[in-house]
Amino acid sequence: MLSGIQPTGSGSHLGNYLGAVRRWVAMQDGFDAFYFIPDLHAITVPQDPATLRRRTREAVAELLAAGLDPERCTVFVQSQVPEHAQLAWVLGCITGYGEASRMTQFKDKSNRAELGPATVGLFTYPVLQAADILLYQADLVPVGDDQRQHLELTRDLAQRFNARSGPTFTVPSGYVGQAGDRVMDLQDPSRKMSKSLPPAGTIYLQDDPAVLAKKIRSAVTDAGREVRADPAAKPGITNLLIIHAALSGRSVADLEQDYAGRGYGDFKRDLAEVVVEALTPFQRRLSAVLGDPTYVDQALRRGREKASEVAAGTLAAVHSAVGFLPAT
Ligand code: TYM
Repeated sequence: MLSGIQPTGSGSHLGNYLGAVRRWVAMQDGFDAFYFIPDLHAITVPQDPATLRRRTREAVAELLAAGLDPERCTVFVQSQVPEHAQLAWVLGCITGYGEASRMTQFKDKSNRAELGPATVGLFTYPVLQAADILLYQADLVPVGDDQRQHLELTRDLAQRFNARSGPTFTVPSGYVGQAGDRVMDLQDPSRKMSKSLPPAGTIYLQDDPAVLAKKIRSAVTDAGREVRADPAAKPGITNLLIIHAALSGRSVADLEQDYAGRGYGDFKRDLAEVVVEALTPFQRRLSAVLGDPTYVDQALRRGREKASEVAAGTLAAVHSAVGFLPAT
């Protein structure tokens, strides 16, 4: 299995954790698991070099603090394994222009003025993502709901390549949904929680307890005062219930019953406690990991070696299937 998380913004948020990273931790034992930081993807929108470098390290540290163990899974940085860009070229040559134009993330990002004019890199981003997945012959790709379309494209490209050039790639399984795979913004529950929205609506894993409590207290709720899930009429409180359930392990129905006859205030106060309790141990481990650069360096060296070995094998098979003359 394989998955990745971008090193952008002010660190990972609760959507990244519930939609992706939490599952990665659970899956590192049953699978040959590869987790990586897609820095090639990050530069599809402008980045400051010093910040990108610092954030890439920090993103690795966040994964280790969340519970990934470099002895039990492979953690690496995408740009350190050049085969990703090499395979993306080959896959780009079997991707239709129209097919790439239909990707919603491209349409969304290319329309956002603050990101500057859309680049060719942003357009071909999903092809690079397909290369990330196919290089490791991944079967499972645990991602949040927003990555569903990219995963479908990956499956299409794998099938097309195999049909044209002979069986080369594992076709990954389709998207598997689960609770918490679409956490919404606290200030605008019609949009998914995202690193590129204002911080008041985003719960960052590194936020301190006072900030967390304030963000939850000021989360937009809906008309009425009943703590009840109803995605159409009460999207704000529904999102908060989902977050509570995902972190506390209780069901939404159980929570509704518990808060029957009590207002939003009580619920938000308890939710703040649940979030702080979940994030405090993570934050403690993160400072320990950041204080031990050798641990991070060693994890990445090992990760790069393991990833390179697998990636080189797949790329060689692809080059041979395509008809490139091998070097002597
Ligand atoms: P990224 O960095 O935007 O997000 C990392 C993971 O977090 C999930 N996620 C969410 N889940 C629930 N609710 C949310 N509000 C939320 N926001 C983000 C994402 O679905 C993702 O699983 N293109 C990818 C990175 C990537 C990748 C790959 C992933 C590059 N190559 C290959 C898997 C396989 C991205 O930008 O994720």
